[in-house]
Amino acid sequence: EICACLVGSEMCIRDRVRKNREHVSRFLHKCVQKFQPPGGTFGSLGHIRTLFGMSPRLKACFQSKSRFKLTLLIQMEELDMEKKEQLYEGKAKKVFATDDANLVIVDYKDDATAFNGEKKGTITGKGVINNVMSNHMFQLLEQQGVPTHFVEQLSERETLVKKVSIVPLEVIIRNISAGSFAKRFGVEEGIVFDEPTIEFSYKNDELGDPLMNAYHAIALKAATREEIETIKAMAFKVNEVMKQYFDTLNVILVDFKLEFGKTADGKIVLADEISPDTCRLWDKTTKEKLDKDRFRRDMGGVEEAYQEIMKRVMGK
Ligand code: TMP
Ligand code: ASP
Repeated sequence: EICACLVGSEMCIRDRVRKNREHVSRFLHKCVQKFQPPGGTFGSLGHIRTLFGMSPRLKACFQSKSRFKLTLLIQMEELDMEKKEQLYEGKAKKVFATDDANLVIVDYKDDATAFNGEKKGTITGKGVINNVMSNHMFQLLEQQGVPTHFVEQLSERETLVKKVSIVPLEVIIRNISAGSFAKRFGVEEGIVFDEPTIEFSYKNDELGDPLMNAYHAIALKAATREEIETIKAMAFKVNEVMKQYFDTLNVILVDFKLEFGKTADGKIVLADEISPDTCRLWDKTTKEKLDKDRFRRDMGGVEEAYQEIMKRVMGK
């Protein structure tokens, strides 16, 4: 049973770590009693990382079910990633290196901007809410078969994620007219579409993220045709999952923005965040705005709206 779990999937092990550290500690201890890697003593952080990363050698070792003698002392605290140098600072998040080249730590700030950084402010507590909510959404999406960059939440504001190169496209899905759609086409907000729409903008602050179509993206080598097809399919799937989910919280998912990344092995995964910063969320009964539009439009009640969404998503 232990063997099956270990070779089963990386996620399965990570799930156990997240849910119950004591249980995992006991679980690994049992593994240790049962299997011993050839000639080795586990105990260092590197070894544990290898175990979680499922190196082919270790996999073979567990699959072989041979009974090696072993010692393994695991301090669960050792699983905590070391935060190294800052790699990047964006408008709402910072990104730090770790001692694993394939993993980085994102750190969510309370800073808020709008209109390409022209309007600046602080939304107290936003960093915590956006971190916790994004992680909740990413885990829900993973369960529904959407690959994401999420690995493990480390603290209220920090999350360990796979290192990706961000595809320079902001992918926007809309179910209801609002924001720039309403403005561009001269229609009121709140028109429910028969089908969701998708659009891309080129992620470039200097140019103000101009709207672009798939041909433009290919011409600029922002993504390949195949990558765009993958991204489109994933974005619509995300919409279906999220629309249904928010409905159960008495919230309408009006529109949202996604970003995708490419892992070292070229796989496209959902990245960035899913939060009231990047979604338009209206209360289903009152149509009250529960998202960043309250900040963009100086409506007041900004913190309260973020807290209300957090309460509905996390039940607190
Ligand atoms: P828009 O109507 O202003 O184009 O916004 C569409 C959605 O994208 C909305 O849910 C807010 C989100 N969004 C971002 O996440 N970042 C941005 O920079 C912009 C302009 C919009
Ligand atoms: N975050 C974007 C910016 O600074 C815009 C927005 O979310 O409205 O400008």
